[in-house]
Amino acid sequence: MPPFRAVDGIDFEFGRGEVFGFLGPNGAGKSSTMRMLGATSPVSAGTLRVLGMDPAEKGPEIRARIGVVPQDDCLDRELTVRENLFVYGRYFGLAKNVIRERIAGLLAFAQLEEQADAQVETLSGGMRRRLTIARSLINQPEILLLDEPTTGLDPQARHVLWDRLYRLKRDGVTLIITTHYMDEAEQLCDRLAVMDGGKIVAEGSPRELIDAHVTREVLELRFPADDQAEVAERLRAAQLGERIELLPDRVVVYADDGETVLVAVHGMSLAPITALVRRATLEDVFLKLTGRSLID
Ligand SMILES: Nc1ncnc2c1ncn2[C@@H]1O[C@H](COP(=O)(O)OP(=O)(O)O)[C@@H](O)[C@H]1O
Ligand SMILES: [Mg+2]
Repeated sequence: MPPFRAVDGIDFEFGRGEVFGFLGPNGAGKSSTMRMLGATSPVSAGTLRVLGMDPAEKGPEIRARIGVVPQDDCLDRELTVRENLFVYGRYFGLAKNVIRERIAGLLAFAQLEEQADAQVETLSGGMRRRLTIARSLINQPEILLLDEPTTGLDPQARHVLWDRLYRLKRDGVTLIITTHYMDEAEQLCDRLAVMDGGKIVAEGSPRELIDAHVTREVLELRFPADDQAEVAERLRAAQLGERIELLPDRVVVYADDGETVLVAVHGMSLAPITALVRRATLEDVFLKLTGRSLID
């Protein structure tokens, strides 16, 4: 058996000040790609340049100018918020007074001033994530690598985090983000690479990807489970919409005008249990390109 390829011949480019995202399901190769970008995992073939430098030759130089927010926090839970930041600053070889000064600013940025002397153990998931981001900023990086920054957080905690990331973008930091949340990718990313099975299956802005691969609207129809396959066949035969997907729990019709299609469905004497017209999303792009859903 040939060796397993977690990342297989991907080609991408990101510019200064951009928010670039890797969108893909679990196992797509996002974290592996991030480790190569962060100069902590070697590139076995091809060319990679980060800030114009080759990670194989200039690992320490690259690591000094980037910030890394790994998928797993790896904070020291026994230490306080402030101590975690301090230890990380020392790791970068910063002078103690410089670190203290930066910690004050980072605590404010991460909205953790009240928790400064609390043990990490006692923080909520959202607070820990903000601390990890604050920590990654201690060396004032030009590029920030964020691996699934909001996975596992509740909606409110995610919005607080997005707001912090917008601020970093406004301040000119280049953000590279991985996510399997299509709403996160749509909200945050200027440009995206959609990944699946170690490959990039599409690249572009969220708008470009939707325009290129799916229709403007989507009509979701739910019928009794036993009827769905047959209904999908009838809709296909009637050539409704541009494309029809049969999913386990619904029939999805891609059309620029969902309402018109719905009228036609009713005209065929079909009575869906529920019918919903919505705007097409990156989830639809992923489904079209891979035949699967982003979150299984
Ligand atoms: N060091 C490794 N050795 C063997 N397999 C790995 C290693 N790292 C990752 N993988 C596998 O490579 C695939 C991609 O992993 P990963 O980059 O973590 O994907 P993602 O972050 O998109 O979930 C997964 O199937 C994973 O199990
Ligand atoms: Mg990962």
